[in-house]
Amino acid sequence: MKHEKNILITGASGLLGSSLRVRLDGLGVVTGVAHSTPGERLVPVDLREANALEALLKEAKPDVVVHSAAYRDPDFCEDHRDEAFRLNVAPVEQFCELLPESVPLLFISSDYVFDGEAAPYSEEDERHPVNEYGRLKVKAEDLVLQRATGSVLRIPLLIGAGPTWETSGFIYKTLAKIQDPTPSSLDDAGIRFPTWTEDVADVAAHILGIEGSGIYHYSSLEGGTKYRWALELADLAGLSMEHISPDREGSPTRAVRPGNTQLAVDKIRRTGLNRFTRFREVARSVLEGFA
Ligand SMILES: NC(=O)c1ccc[n+]([C@@H]2O[C@H](COP(=O)([O-])OP(=O)(O)OC[C@H]3O[C@@H](n4cnc5c(N)ncnc54)[C@H](OP(=O)(O)O)[C@@H]3O)[C@@H](O)[C@H]2O)c1
Repeated sequence: MKHEKNILITGASGLLGSSLRVRLDGLGVVTGVAHSTPGERLVPVDLREANALEALLKEAKPDVVVHSAAYRDPDFCEDHRDEAFRLNVAPVEQFCELLPESVPLLFISSDYVFDGEAAPYSEEDERHPVNEYGRLKVKAEDLVLQRATGSVLRIPLLIGAGPTWETSGFIYKTLAKIQDPTPSSLDDAGIRFPTWTEDVADVAAHILGIEGSGIYHYSSLEGGTKYRWALELADLAGLSMEHISPDREGSPTRAVRPGNTQLAVDKIRRTGLNRFTRFREVARSVLEGFA
């Protein structure tokens, strides 16, 4: 009988991990790793604990690993550097040490490895992170890319339906802000390319089907400021934006944010992938899903 691939997905309870679990399910036997979120077919493992990660690998015996777990908030990483290293880099060191070289390791990275001064960025462009989150992604990428079977998928701001409405990232947070009548402002300086988690999961499946290793960029094709995306969300939801002003200086944050880190998608396109869902379509499906 043919052996079905054991696919290990970390961060499986997260915004992206939830889509990865659904998409990769058909490709083998999926073990989804969570931490604090209980759930059917989710294994709770604290990846900061070396022993726990080692035990997980012994038990799951993965043929493929997609590593998505990380602290994704740049402000948190800026303020808690040691702690951020424990999750965003240390488990990658361990994966690289413990996994046989024949086991593909796909690492989810970020457009924040770039400084935002010279977009669009190709896979060959030099990395210059401007915050700790980006620096940690660079360190983790370097480890993964030393492997003959290591791949890096860089993605920008994610949108999509999380396991719950409150975990639905940008769309949830932006809509909550629009619904709050308190006058406020939204960043109208940094250009973002909100990208659907289901598209990214499809790209991950596609990359796993490509022999070899390397870096891939994936991004939606529509750029705009957070204020612009909020206008589109408000329009879809039939809400007013009159109490929210555009902040053309960019909203102050503890960690510096790069201005425009558009990722060029020519390489992934050349491999035959051509799925780029528009913001409005994604937002509509998320809003309808939680209506
Ligand atoms: N979100 C974005 O806009 C964005 C943009 C670019 C790149 N990325 C990258 O994409 C990946 C996924 O991001 P996301 O938005 O899906 O993140 P997320 O929704 O915050 O999910 C994070 C995941 O990591 C898990 N986790 C947290 N602490 C852990 C620990 N100590 N041990 C094991 N697992 C732990 C969480 O598990 P529990 O919830 O069960 O605790 C959750 O499954 C990350 O690598 C992130 O850097 C995200």
